[in-house]
Amino acid sequence: MAKLGRLVASLPIPDVLRERVVAQFDCFAPERHLRTDDLIALAKQHDPDALLISLGMPMRAEHVALLPASVRVMATTSVGYDHIDVAAANAQGITVCNTPDVLTDATADTHMLLLLGAARQAKTHIHNMDGGWKVRNGFFQGLGVDVSGKTMGIVGMGRIGRAVAQRARGFDMPILYHNRTRLSADLESGARYFASLEEMLPHCQVLSLNLPGGQGVLMTAERFAKLPRGAIFVNSARGSLVDEEALIAALKSGQVGSAGLDVFQKEPNFDTRLNELENTFLLPHIGSATIETRAAMAGLALDGIAAVLSGQTPANVVKA
Ligand code: GLV
Repeated sequence: MAKLGRLVASLPIPDVLRERVVAQFDCFAPERHLRTDDLIALAKQHDPDALLISLGMPMRAEHVALLPASVRVMATTSVGYDHIDVAAANAQGITVCNTPDVLTDATADTHMLLLLGAARQAKTHIHNMDGGWKVRNGFFQGLGVDVSGKTMGIVGMGRIGRAVAQRARGFDMPILYHNRTRLSADLESGARYFASLEEMLPHCQVLSLNLPGGQGVLMTAERFAKLPRGAIFVNSARGSLVDEEALIAALKSGQVGSAGLDVFQKEPNFDTRLNELENTFLLPHIGSATIETRAAMAGLALDGIAAVLSGQTPANVVKA
């Protein structure tokens, strides 16, 4: 079978996909994740038709401008594409693809892990076990709060938001949501729509962020102040949506009771004051990190590349 073209990857190709990649492309992939500058250098060396990149790799206009003219498609192994200047890529004739759908369940599962971890003070208890269970909690010590029955407000009721809602219903949590547009009754599944985030916030015992990044700071000090005192805040979307200074202040004052965070303003150099607080449960951006899901994501990114190089428009093309 004739190969579809030359592919330069910024990440190692996993064993499960190697055969397929070798069959479809002349592939130049590194042993370790590359930084943007190194990827550009590798691309200049091989004049590829396609680039496979990942989330931690910014592709701003100034980077896109340095790519060789041979590049026709760039696929990111992530659903989010706020690290890519899609308009700049498109202007240079590069189609951009992402990996929607296949990571929805894994990410929603992680979201529930964050919620439960935050609500039940998991970090403190894990720390205690790491230290050989030296702290013996009395009956009224080391207590978290119930998650079951609490009202959850979801900001961003797309695929992942709806998957979180589906899981939260299993915990008997009434669901509210704020979204640019109201969903059909079918997709709402009984969730109550708020056109105004400000009006929803006072009702959210749990506030859940499930919207794409790249749209500025959503959670400001004023908005944290609108939550009921002691609310649980969960973010598996993007750190850029949150004023972390305001979140730290709200966690210290008890206005936010606890926070479960998988994402941060700066990654991996996150604000470690967040970890010093007892009422946080933090994960290192592992929302989609399961064996099955990561293989599916890489496969979908490659499908997008293969389709574009075959003259088709794949469903996972991103619009600027
Ligand atoms: C993860 O954050 C993703 O965008 O895939």
